[in-house]
Amino acid sequence: MSSTRYELRGHTAVITLDNPPINGLGLALRTGIIDSLDQALADPAVKAIVLTGTARAFSGGADVKEFGTPKAGMEPRLPVVISALENSPKPVVAAIAGVCMGGGLELALGAHFRVAKRDAQIALPEVKLGLIPGAGGTQRLPRLVGLEAAMNLIVSGAIVKAQQFEGTALFDALTDGDVVEAGVAFAEQAVAEGKPLKRARDLKVKDPQAEAWLQFARNTVAATAKGWPAPLKCVEAVALSASKSFDEGLRLERDIFLGLMATTESRALRHVFTAERAAAKIPDVADDTPLRTITKVGVIGAGTMGGGITMNFLNAGIPVVLLEMKQEALDRGIATIRKNYENSMKKGKLKAEQVEQRMALITPTLGYEGLADVDLVIEAVFEEMGVKEKVFRTLDEVCKPGAILASNTSYLNVDKIAQFTQRPQDVIGLHFFSPANVMRLLEVVRGKETAKDVLATSMALAKKIKKVAIVSGVCDGFIGNRMLARYGAAAQGLVNAGALPQQVDKALQSVYGLAMGPFRMGDLAGLDIGWATRKRKAAEAGVEMTPIVADKLCEAGRYGQKTGAGWYRYEAGKRDPIPDPVTEALITEYRAANGITPRKVSDDEIVERCIYALVNEGARILEEGIAARASDIDLVYLNGYGHPAQRGGPMLFADTVGLANVVRALKRFAAEPGADPSWQPAPLLAKLAAEGKTFN
Ligand code: NAI
Repeated sequence: MSSTRYELRGHTAVITLDNPPINGLGLALRTGIIDSLDQALADPAVKAIVLTGTARAFSGGADVKEFGTPKAGMEPRLPVVISALENSPKPVVAAIAGVCMGGGLELALGAHFRVAKRDAQIALPEVKLGLIPGAGGTQRLPRLVGLEAAMNLIVSGAIVKAQQFEGTALFDALTDGDVVEAGVAFAEQAVAEGKPLKRARDLKVKDPQAEAWLQFARNTVAATAKGWPAPLKCVEAVALSASKSFDEGLRLERDIFLGLMATTESRALRHVFTAERAAAKIPDVADDTPLRTITKVGVIGAGTMGGGITMNFLNAGIPVVLLEMKQEALDRGIATIRKNYENSMKKGKLKAEQVEQRMALITPTLGYEGLADVDLVIEAVFEEMGVKEKVFRTLDEVCKPGAILASNTSYLNVDKIAQFTQRPQDVIGLHFFSPANVMRLLEVVRGKETAKDVLATSMALAKKIKKVAIVSGVCDGFIGNRMLARYGAAAQGLVNAGALPQQVDKALQSVYGLAMGPFRMGDLAGLDIGWATRKRKAAEAGVEMTPIVADKLCEAGRYGQKTGAGWYRYEAGKRDPIPDPVTEALITEYRAANGITPRKVSDDEIVERCIYALVNEGARILEEGIAARASDIDLVYLNGYGHPAQRGGPMLFADTVGLANVVRALKRFAAEPGADPSWQPAPLLAKLAAEGKTFN
């Protein structure tokens, strides 16, 4: 099966890459290019060669379907294909439209000339997978565009338009028209003029400031890379282009590339890449399930969440009917939305007319009549079953048949909510994360009776509003918050045992790489939420609540940042957490009252306890079928809880540590006197560990 098409236009052979959707450079395509090239070289009538793709993609780079399979390493490997183009005695012109990224751009760099659509998307995004370009990109690009421009592209992994490189040797011509025609015209002219072949490998990096510039780049990148290896390796590889011969540079680039392939950082980032593609698939819902049409949305509640949720739809051009109980709350909610947009405008991210266009999509209302014709309603009212009940009974009365009725509840039972309506098949949980206009995660909570097309429509809509949607079954807190409860308890346990909140936060931030440790996060989210939940649960269970330190803080009116103090104290108008002796005194008091003699807690223990608590609950969630796959759980933590992509999420972290090691640690924690039974290794985790397997 060939993945290229070959055609003659006059004396020019046009080789078209044909491996939909984005011309991933799999084995068949690589072989096809070599075969077509040989055909063109063997034909005396052919004077020049044009290599092109489709309007959508010249090539998006490596074929992800081949990742980790033997095919990925089979000859002809990409560097061989690129050299074959470069060594062609007949001129080779790459005609580039659409996506030209990673290995796709490296392939184009092997051509002698490049003609591109002005808006072609150019990138070397390997750094985002913890790698460097490994097929000559770090050696050829600086020879064509100079050190600085090459470094910027390679270190950032950013996507830029071809026109940004106008005037450099990267592109010989830019066009707004048909790129294949332009490529053929260029090739004919090159032949007519006898243009010498421009091989990137023969060029020299001419930069008298090279050393000074490289030192600057090393310092800047080191300061922002947070100790992850790939960005600095990008600098190192690009630097070789100025100091080594081309062949030596190419060899060293390969060594660096292979070294990075073996890092846990790259493994994690590649895991995230494939996880995002896997998450969109729901095992028992067909890809071609007919979708419901969503052209108008209702949002109930214009508070913290309702406002942010509304913005997602406005940003996508979808009108929203926003309902509140009182005019004052409605006005406040809308003013907050406007303020957020105006802040984006001040930062230059939005134009004034865009702000007005978006605001004009809101229809504010105090009455349910306005919801009669919406296709989807998302409820974001107070987190109380009684309030939700009233809302859903009313929605059932007023909404048109087929409208999707969604709840943004954080913890409540979506199946129970569905029963407040006569149409439980249309009810679903759409759990956004705060701030809802910023956070990428959306938990799509599938009730017992949720219809498949409601699920499929929600997933498609999530994509439209640029969310990473993860399907969760119904349980207390769904995937993310259910695991978070264990994590919070582990962090609290460490403080009880002898650590201070600032030590716990610092260890998780600096050792594991979290954006924010649990106590800072608690202060940001508001400690009163957990307090209310614990009170509710105690009341439901009919038991007296035994206050923990967090409850004591709340009893003292310390709800977190919003009251100026929580675990930390905050200076007026500032968000920097300042360790507070008042908190320390409450902790000491708690230890004394519970007969705890404080002990020294190491940073490693902090990471183990907090992350393994997540992992263990994650394993139970998998076992119960609440999550379909371990990688879905990882995505929840990466996109909703500030976990670093370079760790790949808690489940991949456990795989990296080795599940047997995780189980040993959990058994140790579970064996301590008075240990919470949840430390017992989950059966699935124990089984995988015993079989020497991994989650992912
Ligand atoms: P909030 O208190 O900021 O906003 C709730 C809004 O709903 C208020 O403006 C209130 O006036 C309005 N409201 C209450 N009852 C209503 C009714 N019957 N009809 C119309 N409007 C009504 O609360 P927040 O934080 O926005 O939470 C809303 C929901 O989102 C809750 O279910 C919560 O669990 C969930 N959630 C909250 C997150 C958070 O971080 N705050 C994160 C994810 C979900």
